[in-house]
Parts: sequence; C-alpha cells; structure tokens
Amino acid sequence: MAVSMTPSSPVFIFDAFGTLFDVHAVAREHAAAIGPEAERLSGIWRSKQLEYTWIYARADRSGPLVVPGFREITRASLMYALSLCGLDAALAPRLLESYQRLPPFPEVRDTLTQLKARGARLAILSNADPDQLDDLVSNAGFDGVFEHSISVAAAGSFKPDPRVYALGPEVFGRPANEMMFVSSNRWDIAGAKAFGYAATWVNRLGLPDEYSDLSAGRVLTDLAGLLTNASQ
Ligand code: LAC
Repeated sequence: MAVSMTPSSPVFIFDAFGTLFDVHAVAREHAAAIGPEAERLSGIWRSKQLEYTWIYARADRSGPLVVPGFREITRASLMYALSLCGLDAALAPRLLESYQRLPPFPEVRDTLTQLKARGARLAILSNADPDQLDDLVSNAGFDGVFEHSISVAAAGSFKPDPRVYALGPEVFGRPANEMMFVSSNRWDIAGAKAFGYAATWVNRLGLPDEYSDLSAGRVLTDLAGLLTNASQ
C-alpha cells in the first residue's frame, strides 16, 4: 500500500558500494578465470579504489591536476590489484564490465520497497559517476525507488569531503541531523557523523567497531534491520 510523503517523512540516504551493491560479486562471477587469487584480488581492488578516492578528495584543485572520475579510479585500482596478484591485465575489461551491473544484496529490494511503503523518502549518495550510478540502479531494477541518485561529481570530490555530505541537505532541504545516512563502510559513517547526519552502520562482515568519537547511532547486520524501527 502506498503511503503519501509528508514533510516529516523519514529520509534515508544510502551509500552504494558494499551497502546496496555487492562489490565482491565480480570476483565470484569470474572466479574460474581469475583462479585461486580471486578473493585476494577483490579485496586489494576495493581497498586501493578507496585509497585513491581519499587522496583525490584531499587534492589541491588550484593546480593542473584533473581529478579522475570513479570509473577511472575503479579501472586504475583494478590494474594495480591485477599486477600485485601477478594476474593477466587482459582480465580487466570483463571485470570492469561486470562492475557496471553489480547485484544488490539479497535483502535490499524488499527492504527498500517496505521503507517506501511506509512513506520513507530514499536516496543514494555515492562516489560513483552519475551515469555509472544510473546504470547500477537500472540494472538492479531500482528505477523509481530513489527520489535522488546523488553522485559526488556534483561536489567535484569524493567522500569523506564535507562538500560531498553537504549534497544530502542540499537536495532534500533538510538539516543533516534529520536524515539517516546508511553505509556498510565504517569510515563513511565516520565522515557522515562528522558532518552531522544521524547514521546507521550496516556491519555486514561483523567487523570490530572503530571511530569511537564518531559513533554510529545504530549498528545492523544487514539492511532489513532498518524495518524494525523505520523512524529516527
Ligand atoms: C560509495 C562507496 C564509498 O558508494 O562505497 O560511495
């Protein structure tokens, strides 16, 4: 049953990679071609990709540097990971193609549907390039689910640059502390909390907590936990 939105409807802003979409699905899909290093490759790929975003988020834009988009960062980090694992660079095109259609985690579709049915307003705030984000959303069949798909490109930076987190209040016209930021990346939760959001950490991997001075309001094991108390 559709419930109409009101000015007080809860707002949920989701991270994309690792929170809604399973980044490690690529290595699983191509496990036979990659071989025994598949899991290690996937871990190095993801951590290098994030490291590059952190460095570019801090880069001085007054000089000649052209900050690359997330697709290019994803490609460059994959090339590094393949090299470190001693794997053939020729694997890259098919892995990058799969990255464009990452599957959502199993509980995501139902959780988003139920949150919307309760009147919640949903958005994504992601490092992804705008067209990359649109591809992910539509490949997953999520067209119409999100009121806003916000790419960091609008701020010309990457998380955890505060200019990126400022895009949420900008598009919803609501202060950050009245919106729930949801991410599986603990550092992303720390950045969002530092900006002033209410936050929920989706600790899918059962990792130890960190950033005790920037604590997540709620810690869940997967997204479905949002349904147990959809209000903030
Ligand atoms: C994102 C990365 C941080 O979607 O997971 O922005």
